[in-house]
Amino acid sequence: MILKVSHVFKTYKMEGEEVHALNDVSLEIKKGEFVSITGPSGSGKSTLMHIIGLLDNPTSGEVILDGKNVASMSEKELAKLRNKYIGFVFQQYNLLPRTSSLENVEMPMIYGDIGFAERKRKATELLTLVGLQDKLLNNPNQLSGGQQQRVTIARALAMEPAIILADEPTGNLDSKTGAEIMKLFHDLNKEGHTIILVTHDSAVAVQAKRTIKIKDGKIV
Ligand SMILES: Nc1ncnc2c1ncn2[C@@H]1O[C@H](COP(=O)(O)OP(=O)(O)OP(=O)(O)O)[C@@H](O)[C@H]1O
Ligand SMILES: [Mg+2]
Repeated sequence: MILKVSHVFKTYKMEGEEVHALNDVSLEIKKGEFVSITGPSGSGKSTLMHIIGLLDNPTSGEVILDGKNVASMSEKELAKLRNKYIGFVFQQYNLLPRTSSLENVEMPMIYGDIGFAERKRKATELLTLVGLQDKLLNNPNQLSGGQQQRVTIARALAMEPAIILADEPTGNLDSKTGAEIMKLFHDLNKEGHTIILVTHDSAVAVQAKRTIKIKDGKIV
């Protein structure tokens, strides 16, 4: 089991009112699975992804990543775990502006203490994998939306994470570019990466081997 979420609640207090963004969510994901998470807007999908990605703490409940209970870890330990295990393809996880594709993809490897030459080599290889070999030196504002999304995917892969978390990775893309991105996820899954993908699009969701539906903060 690569990931186990047990009885997770996430409650936000807004002007005295409590919002139960997650309301007793439990799930288990095995290594190498390809899972989609679907549900209406506001149902708690992104909240769940933030908690699975160790970017946010649950109000209560447990997250166990590769056998480690993450509750007692310091921010520094969590950052290390994220760098090693998790690749993020989040729309709100923007690329650094005024920074080339190559340097954006190198960023996690700098934190991961990978040396200069290996970083350059790996970043070039990954950008080639996503079809951006001609755009290595372009900054994000010199790339199309789909190309920026592909840089994000290349960056997510830099540390060869066991788990790739993608929140609406095809949301802003035309159907052809969206299909290309999905093909990349399928290829990564074949190589053994666990994929967890949030989507509104039922045509995208059915491509996963398992779909988890969430409504009002609960799995249905
Ligand atoms: N920081 C926050 N403070 C207060 N409420 C929040 C916060 N973040 C999320 N919420 C609320 O929690 C609920 C779940 O939000 P979440 O972003 O997880 O939904 P979602 O399923 O990802 O929706 P969408 O499909 O629109 O992206 C919503 O009611 C939202 O308003
Ligand atoms: Mg969301």
